[in-house]
Amino acid sequence: MLHSGNPIFCALDTVDVEWAASLAHELRGHVGGVKIGMEFFYSHGYEGYRRVAEAGLPIFLDLKLHDIPNTVAGGIRALETLEPAIINVHAGGGLAMMQAACTAAREAKSPLKVIAVTILTSLDTSDLQNIGFEDKQEGGNSSTQWHATNLAALTQTASLDGVVCSSHDIGSIRAQCGKDFLTVVPGIRPSSGNVQDQKRVATPAWALNEGADILVIGRPITQADDPVAAADTIFAECTANLAAN
Ligand code: C5P
Repeated sequence: MLHSGNPIFCALDTVDVEWAASLAHELRGHVGGVKIGMEFFYSHGYEGYRRVAEAGLPIFLDLKLHDIPNTVAGGIRALETLEPAIINVHAGGGLAMMQAACTAAREAKSPLKVIAVTILTSLDTSDLQNIGFEDKQEGGNSSTQWHATNLAALTQTASLDGVVCSSHDIGSIRAQCGKDFLTVVPGIRPSSGNVQDQKRVATPAWALNEGADILVIGRPITQADDPVAAADTIFAECTANLAAN
């Protein structure tokens, strides 16, 4: 179990190390883990990462690796020394790249999940056409859903652990890849929340009902007056949903 029963991973999107480290400490016991992205890691590297890791929460290191297989495998071997719980790559890097990532992760000293980004949720059908993706609309799925599901299947063929996906794609990815394939879902807003710049949002209950394993939630927690209370309220929404099903 990655997250000891709490599916929330709080996105610490900041370059402020003190703030990130102290929030990670405060959130211990109130979220299942935290997510660190490019902005923080490129600014503060291993030292900043270790400050956040001192809180003892599982960390999703969201660096979206995308390069030739040998380089990505080397990147994973370098990052695994930090002992993150999850690292991600782009599924668009291809089968051999994902297999190389998988092999490198299996040699890691501590358990490491590698997941893939399928289609970025910032891309719509016309963006996909502009970068040469065929327009595919089958079985009631939009073209982005079709390509996301296709890349999820390729991710599974490479023996990676799962994908980052939009809440709207969980159903088709679950149908294709089965229940043991990890789905990590951003774009979550509590039922009472402000959506900020997210376009296709879902409530925690809805995403869990669709089969999400991990909910990546940033600003509804980090920008709340009381982040711990906000995390607890969102977790209560999650557990109400789990109790109802
Ligand atoms: O603040 P908010 O809850 O919108 O943060 C969501 C987090 O998930 C951010 O770190 C964002 O970069 C990330 N993310 C996303 N949509 C994706 C992939 C990642 O919002 N498709």
